[in-house]
Amino acid sequence: MKYYDGERDNAVYGWVRADAWQSWPAQLLTAYLASSVRIGIPQRLQSPLLAALMVAGVANHGQAETPLRNYIGKPLPEYVTGDECLFCHRNVVGPSWSINEHQKTLLPLIAAPEIEAALQANPALKPFAKHVRFVLGNENQIRLLRKSQKYGHLDLLSAILEPSHSEDATIKLRNKPPFQWDTKIFGQRCAGCHATAVDSRTQTYAATGIDCYSCHGDVDLKHANDASLVYLSKKRNDSPLLVAATCGQCHIRTGKSKASGFPYANNHVIGSDLFTDFDVDLSHKALDAAPPHERHILANIRNVLEENDSVTCLSCHNIHRTSGRKHRKIEKSNYCLICHAPSDMKQLTYNRKERHHALCGY
Ligand code: HEC
Ligand code: HEC
Ligand code: HEC
Ligand code: HEC
Ligand code: HEC
Ligand code: HEC
Repeated sequence: MKYYDGERDNAVYGWVRADAWQSWPAQLLTAYLASSVRIGIPQRLQSPLLAALMVAGVANHGQAETPLRNYIGKPLPEYVTGDECLFCHRNVVGPSWSINEHQKTLLPLIAAPEIEAALQANPALKPFAKHVRFVLGNENQIRLLRKSQKYGHLDLLSAILEPSHSEDATIKLRNKPPFQWDTKIFGQRCAGCHATAVDSRTQTYAATGIDCYSCHGDVDLKHANDASLVYLSKKRNDSPLLVAATCGQCHIRTGKSKASGFPYANNHVIGSDLFTDFDVDLSHKALDAAPPHERHILANIRNVLEENDSVTCLSCHNIHRTSGRKHRKIEKSNYCLICHAPSDMKQLTYNRKERHHALCGY
């Protein structure tokens, strides 16, 4: 695994990938076309570009993938909701889903009674309390939202709340009143990463919080008989590029969509290409400036895009077990020094409590 060893240092990443596609051998393309017939991909999707993208999967793992689609400027698919998924997946995923940070990121206020009580007790917030419907964040910062007059939109309250780590119903504010509702910020700067199936054209969302769809994509229910039909299943060997795009769509907090100008991915559906529209600065300079928790993400994305690294977010993070323990088994390299002291691996330079980001305002 490389880190900071890349020969090229380019600020914009679209070209690296286009470049890489062209270099893949033609016989792999043939292999893809053969395999796509076998797994029944419709004829109309077999364009040369898609074929080339498929080769990425073939080249990395000797196994084909479902082709990449692109939803920029098109309606997002009607996806199967988490409740429906959990009907069948209640044993393995169900128990941990309610504590998963992804699903908890934007909660209805009624699911956070301690905050509901605290709002009533705070004179500066009490006037807004009856309109608040959603709570954004929990560990680092808390923001409040109400339903907008515009359907499928949320308004963000300017108050910034400090999470209380004790049981009492007091709230500390990080900024001063007077507070007001903002009708645009959430849709234009936040929604894409804190809600599900956000359509950049209208900035409407399909569900608050992050649903299964955000990572597993537009799931075909036929996967119950053939688990390889669903992204990130054990039966697939999804390419590092697909993983980088899946997690990167939200965890790259310094990117920008060329088409929408928003800081979140434009109608990204898992399995489609992220980096042609989503510009991100992965130069040494940008990496050096980022604190460890951000740098390890950007450096991994860079390693995958530039070095074709097979280590991905999923080599270290286990989403449904909400654990990063398996990262200890990865081969040691410079990359580890983003968070560990060079002389002693037991000494950490990473502090979970010191996560900040200008985009999210904490
Ligand atoms: C590009 C995606 C992206 C955008 C856009 C974005 N966020 Fe975030 N946000 C994240 C990610 C990823 C995290 C979690 C990072 C971590 O845990 O290290 C986060 C964390 C947060 C948290 C802290 C959650 C906690 O645990 O306490 C809050 C609050 C937050 N964001 C608010 C906002 C607001 C408000 C906006 C819009 C102004 C916004 N975010 C825009 C991706 C995004
Ligand atoms: C933030 C991304 C993300 C979200 C959201 C998500 N998953 Fe997953 N899921 C993964 C990844 C990644 C894996 C592969 C195993 C791993 O590395 O954790 C996985 C694995 C699974 C598995 C295989 C069992 C296992 O533990 O390995 C099932 C079943 C599953 N997910 C169902 C769901 C359902 C149902 C939802 C919604 C309620 C959901 N997932 C939401 C990322 C996600
Ligand atoms: C009708 C029941 C049913 C529904 C609904 C359903 N699944 Fe599945 N799913 C299954 C079965 C059966 C399997 C294959 C057996 C297994 O591995 O659990 C499976 C497998 C999976 C796997 C691969 C598990 C592995 O071992 O890696 C994932 C991921 C997954 N489902 C996600 C989802 C998501 C996300 C949804 C909702 C969009 C969903 N499923 C809806 C029945 C269902
Ligand atoms: C749709 C946006 C989105 C996608 C896709 C997504 N994440 Fe997240 N992730 C978030 C947000 C937002 C948070 C912070 C939630 C909060 O604290 O409110 C988060 C939190 C996390 C955390 C911290 C959990 C904790 O226990 O503190 C990890 C680790 C993580 N994500 C890894 C991943 C990986 C790996 C993938 C790819 C499989 C992924 N995420 C995909 C938005 C996303
Ligand atoms: C070589 C292993 C490794 C890789 C690769 C990696 N991470 Fe991490 N990451 C970690 C470890 C270890 C932590 C600290 C976990 C902890 O605090 O217990 C962490 C922390 C995080 C956090 C902050 C929340 C937390 O739990 O502290 C987020 C969010 C995150 N990683 C997302 C990602 C994403 C997205 C990718 C892929 C682009 C990625 N990571 C790649 C090992 C890795
Ligand atoms: C994003 C930050 C981050 C990165 C990158 C990271 N680690 Fe860690 N590492 C942590 C944190 C936080 C802990 C303590 C929590 C835990 O055990 O998961 C830790 C703990 C460990 C431990 C246990 C140390 C002890 O006290 O016994 C080992 C071993 C380890 N990491 C190895 C690695 C290796 C090898 C790499 C590179 C492939 C790496 N880490 C990359 C954050 C990171």
